[in-house]
Amino acid sequence: MGVKRKIAVTGGCGYIGSHAMVDLILHGWDVFSIDSLVNSNEEVLEGIRSITGVPVRNYRIDLAASGAWHQLIEAEPDVVGVIHFAALKAVGDSVKFPMAYYDNNVNALLNTLRWMECAGIGSIIFSSSCTVYGASSELPVTEQNPFGIASSPYGRTKQIGEWILQDLATTGRCRAISLRYFNPAGAHPSAQIGESPRTPAQNLVPVITETAMGKRAGMTVYGKDYPTRDGTCIRDYVYIMDLARAHTLALERLLESSETPAFDAFNLGIGEGLTVLEMIHAFEKVSGQPLRYQIGARREGDMAAVYADSTKARQMLGWSPEGDVEKIMQTAWEWEKRRSNSG
Ligand SMILES: NC(=O)c1ccc[n+]([C@@H]2O[C@H](COP(=O)([O-])OP(=O)(O)OC[C@H]3O[C@@H](n4cnc5c(N)ncnc54)[C@H](O)[C@@H]3O)[C@@H](O)[C@H]2O)c1
Repeated sequence: MGVKRKIAVTGGCGYIGSHAMVDLILHGWDVFSIDSLVNSNEEVLEGIRSITGVPVRNYRIDLAASGAWHQLIEAEPDVVGVIHFAALKAVGDSVKFPMAYYDNNVNALLNTLRWMECAGIGSIIFSSSCTVYGASSELPVTEQNPFGIASSPYGRTKQIGEWILQDLATTGRCRAISLRYFNPAGAHPSAQIGESPRTPAQNLVPVITETAMGKRAGMTVYGKDYPTRDGTCIRDYVYIMDLARAHTLALERLLESSETPAFDAFNLGIGEGLTVLEMIHAFEKVSGQPLRYQIGARREGDMAAVYADSTKARQMLGWSPEGDVEKIMQTAWEWEKRRSNSG
């Protein structure tokens, strides 16, 4: 390979961005991060360096602030593509603080696109979410399912982001792939990086590991009367390194294939759902310790089951996720023990 091609990763110090940078580096890309650290810290860069042997730089820039990106034009010439992870992601907070979510998530995307236009960067991968489908009744969820009514302002920022990219792609001024994640979980097998948000974790797997570590007194399973195998909600958990891999594959497709449409979207889930109790039992098996949990009332807005049809990503990106629930729990638990012991 000749000169490495350069990719900008917004939100690269966050959970998914940091794992994606590892996969990109290991597949020969030159990467740098742009992250305001609103929900992360730069220690993760040391983890990435120790896994890959490559130092990674971060620009501490709030992309939602107008003009903050100007410094990148001179500092980072010759960028060929952007992977845009930077966003606030706590669904519940977005209901309480919708302005903060629209302001941050929509403006960070718009400013990223402004920078791309000024710098002549024509390709972007966008972090979207299965929340764009709203209360979709068709299972498994395919990319043909229309956007539904999103259950939160957070979900609407993802829908708006996709519309912005579709509109821009129509003008021919950029090409975009939107990746709609289902439930990312787990950590890098080295336990050097994982999920460590500044705000309290809300996703099931870190809630389980934090409970087991004694950081929480116990945890609540919301609802045991859904029409599912054991009455608890079903979700599609995708191993974080598989998810990371999909970004490199999508980027390669966007930059190297002449067949891709100007805008395209792919579901990233493994296509199988697990219940909350199945996840808890998988953790208990892997860790060898029982988990303290209680059954509570249903949470408003939760759907009984959501899982993906990921045929499109498998066929068109050549994506083949390999991590199972055991891998997710093992790596998440190793990461939890490491970060708890070091902090
Ligand atoms: N984790 C999930 O379950 C999940 C599911 C679907 C979609 N997503 C999306 O994937 C992306 C990454 O999620 P994550 O789980 O890694 O979250 P994360 O909070 O760990 O990472 C997001 C990163 O973006 C940074 N950031 C936020 N706003 C910024 C701004 N204005 N300027 C610069 N940096 C900013 C944060 O500091 C953080 O490091 C987000 O867009 C999220 O909405 C996540």
